Amino acid sequence: MGRIRILPDQVANQIAAGEVVDRPASVVKELLENALDAGASRIRVEVEAGGRRLIRISDDGQGMNRDDALLAFERHATSKLRTTDDLLSIATLGFRGEALPSIASVARVTLETATGEEASGTRVEIAGGRILHVDDAALPRGTTLAVADLFFNTPARRKFLRAESTELAHVTALVTHYALAHPEKHFELVSATHTIVSAPPVARTAERIYQIFGKETLAQLLPVAAETPLARAGLPEPPPWKKDPSEPARDPGVLRLAGFYSKPELQKLNRNSIYIFVNKRLIRDRLLLHAITEAYRNVIPPTSFPVVLLFLEMPPEEVDVNVHPAKTEVRFRQQSLVHDFVRDSLRTALIKARPAAGFLAALDSAPAASPSLMPPAASPLPGSPDSALLPDSDPAAAADADPFQLTPRVSTPFPGRLPFDSRSLQPGGWGGQDQQAWGEAAAALFQPAGLPVEEGCSPSPASATTGGSNPATATAQVEAEQAAANLNHLGSLRPLAQLRESFILAAGDDGLWIIDQHVAHERVLFEKILRDRQVEQVLRQRLLMPLLVELKPWQMVVFARIAEELDRNGFEVEPFGPQTLAVKAAPVGLEGAALERMLAEVIEQSGADSDEPKQNEDLTALRTRIAASIACHSAIKVNTALDPARMEWLLLELAKTSHPTSCPHGRPIALLYSWREIQRAFHRT
Ligand SMILES: Nc1ncnc2c1ncn2[C@@H]1O[C@H](COP(=O)(O)OP(=O)(O)OP(=O)(O)O)[C@@H](O)[C@H]1O
Ligand SMILES: [Mg+2]
Repeated sequence: MGRIRILPDQVANQIAAGEVVDRPASVVKELLENALDAGASRIRVEVEAGGRRLIRISDDGQGMNRDDALLAFERHATSKLRTTDDLLSIATLGFRGEALPSIASVARVTLETATGEEASGTRVEIAGGRILHVDDAALPRGTTLAVADLFFNTPARRKFLRAESTELAHVTALVTHYALAHPEKHFELVSATHTIVSAPPVARTAERIYQIFGKETLAQLLPVAAETPLARAGLPEPPPWKKDPSEPARDPGVLRLAGFYSKPELQKLNRNSIYIFVNKRLIRDRLLLHAITEAYRNVIPPTSFPVVLLFLEMPPEEVDVNVHPAKTEVRFRQQSLVHDFVRDSLRTALIKARPAAGFLAALDSAPAASPSLMPPAASPLPGSPDSALLPDSDPAAAADADPFQLTPRVSTPFPGRLPFDSRSLQPGGWGGQDQQAWGEAAAALFQPAGLPVEEGCSPSPASATTGGSNPATATAQVEAEQAAANLNHLGSLRPLAQLRESFILAAGDDGLWIIDQHVAHERVLFEKILRDRQVEQVLRQRLLMPLLVELKPWQMVVFARIAEELDRNGFEVEPFGPQTLAVKAAPVGLEGAALERMLAEVIEQSGADSDEPKQNEDLTALRTRIAASIACHSAIKVNTALDPARMEWLLLELAKTSHPTSCPHGRPIALLYSWREIQRAFHRT
C-alpha cells in the first residue's frame, strides 16, 4: 500500500489556519474584510481579553441565506470568484474561500446571519471545525460572527500569543486603519470596559483623521493627490486567435494616489507609521516603502521615516493580490511605473507645500519613550513576515512601543511649553476619560520616536504631537488646520536682525521667522553641488600646501572605492605613501580642518554600510552623501556675524531651493511663529 494519503479536511483547515490566522488581529482582519465585501456600512467589533477570549464582529451587510451560511465554512467556498480569469481582476478583499473554515478549525464560532429577504435568519454553531447546531433565528439583515477561545485546540499556537494589551493594540491598529480607508462607514471597536474607536461616517479622510487622532496630528500631515493615465494595460492583450474582433480595445485606465504625508519635522524610527492601501486593501510592500523613502531622501535623515497614509487606486487587473495567504502583499503588473509615480507625486507635493515648522511643533519635542499602538517588532498586518518586512525594528523602537495601555493616564505638565499656546489651557471637550486614554494612545501612533540629539550636521531631534482632541467633527476646522504655513514666500522675508550671530530673525506677512543660518546655507550649497556635479561644473581650488591625511588600511580601501566620485566633486587627491593621502585641490569654500573632517566623515559613512566594502554601492547615495558632507563643512557656521546684505542673499538663495524646509540631514531650517499664534498669545483673538 502506498504511503501517501489525502489529509482530512480538519487537518487541511488547520494548516491553512496556520498561514491565515496567527493572532486575534488576523481574525479581525478577515472578518472586517468579509463585512466590507458584504457592503456593510456599519461595523462593530467587540473584543474580550485582547481578542483571545472573544471577538465579535457585527455588520449590516447583505447577509447569507441558510445554504450559504453552511457553505461558508467549507474549504474553498467563496461567492467572490468563479473562474481563473476572475483571479486576474479581483475587486473584493477576500477571494480564497479560506478564512472562515480556517478560523472555525481553531476556535468556537457562532455565525448569525440574515439577508432580510427570507422569513428568518440562520444561526450556526461550530467548534474546532465541527458543526454543532444549525437553527433558524429571528435576526435583522446582516451578519454577526463571534469567535471565542481562539486556538483552544492548538495549544502550541496559543503559547505564541502575547499579552492581552499587545494583542489589543494590534486589533486596534487594524480597525483604526480600515476606518481610515473607509471614512464613509461607521466603525466601532469596544472592549469589555471601553469604547476604543467610535467613528461615525464622515465625508473625507481628513475628517476621519481628525476624528480618530485629533487636530494636532492632522496639523502635522499634508494632503497629497495625483493621478496619471496608464499608457498600457498591465495584463498582455489576449492572442489574436482568442480575441473577439468586435470587442473594443481595452482602456488601460488610470493610476490614482491620495493620502497624507508628514511634514519633515515629524520623524519616526521605523516604518510602522507608513500605511499603504491598494484598492482599499491594507498591504505591506517593499517597492512602495522604497518609493516613499526615496521621496523623503535628503529631506529627513536616512535613518528616519515619515508618517504616510497612502491610498492607491488602479484597475484590478493592474495588481496581483494572490501572492500571500494573508493577502498582505501584492505584485504590481507595472512595478516601476507605480514606484516612480508614488515617489514623484510625494516628492512634488513636498516641494510644492514646503511646509514650515511651527514653533510649538518644534518645542513640544518629547523624545522620551511614549506609548504606541504598535508593539515593537510588530507589523500592523497580521500574517506578514515581520522580520523580512520590517528590518528596521530596533530596541529604540521597542522602548517607544511596548507600554500600550488603555487605562487613563495622568498627563504630567510639559515644562518647556510656551505660555502663548492658549489652546492648551482651555478645558478639552472630551467625551470621557476613556476617550482621553484612547486619544493619547492613538496620537502616540503618530508620535515620533526620539532621535539622538547631536551637534553639527546631525539629524534633527523629532517633534511630537500631544494628546487627542474632541472627536466631534467640524469640516471647517479640518480645513483651517490644513491651511498650513509654508516656505514659499521666503524670498520676500525682511531680515530684521541676527540672534547670537547664529539665527536670522525675519519678518513676513505670515509672522515672525527664525532661520538657522548654518543649515539654511547647507541646503543652498547641497543643491548647488548636486546641480554642478550633474553638468560637471564643480569649481575646485588648489591648496597652497597639499593637505596630508593619514588613513587606516580599511579607510584606504574605502577611499579607493570613492576616489573617482571625489574627483568629480572637485577634489584632487593622490596617495602619498601606503597610508597617507595628499589633498592638492578641493571644492571652493572647503579648507583646513573642515576639509579634513569632511573627508573623514565621507570615508567613515561609506565604510559603515558593511564590513565588506560594497563593490557597487548605489552611486546616487554616494553622490548625495558627498554633496551633503561638503555642504555641511563649508556652510556658514553658527556664531558668525552676517551683515544685512548677506542675510538677504541667504534667504533669497534658500527660497530658490526645492526643499527649503530641512537640511540634507533632516534638521528644520526655518521656524514660524505665526501671526495667528502671536495674536493669540497677546489675547487679541
Ligand atoms: N460578513 C459577511 N456577510 C455576508 N457574507 C459573508 C460574510 N462573511 C463571509 N461571507 C460569505 O462567506 C464566504 C466565505 O468567506 P471567507 O472569508 O471564508 O472566504 P472569502 O471572503 O470568499 O475569501 P478569503 O478566504 O480570501 O477571505 C464569502 O465568500 C461570503 O460569500
Ligand atoms: Mg473573507
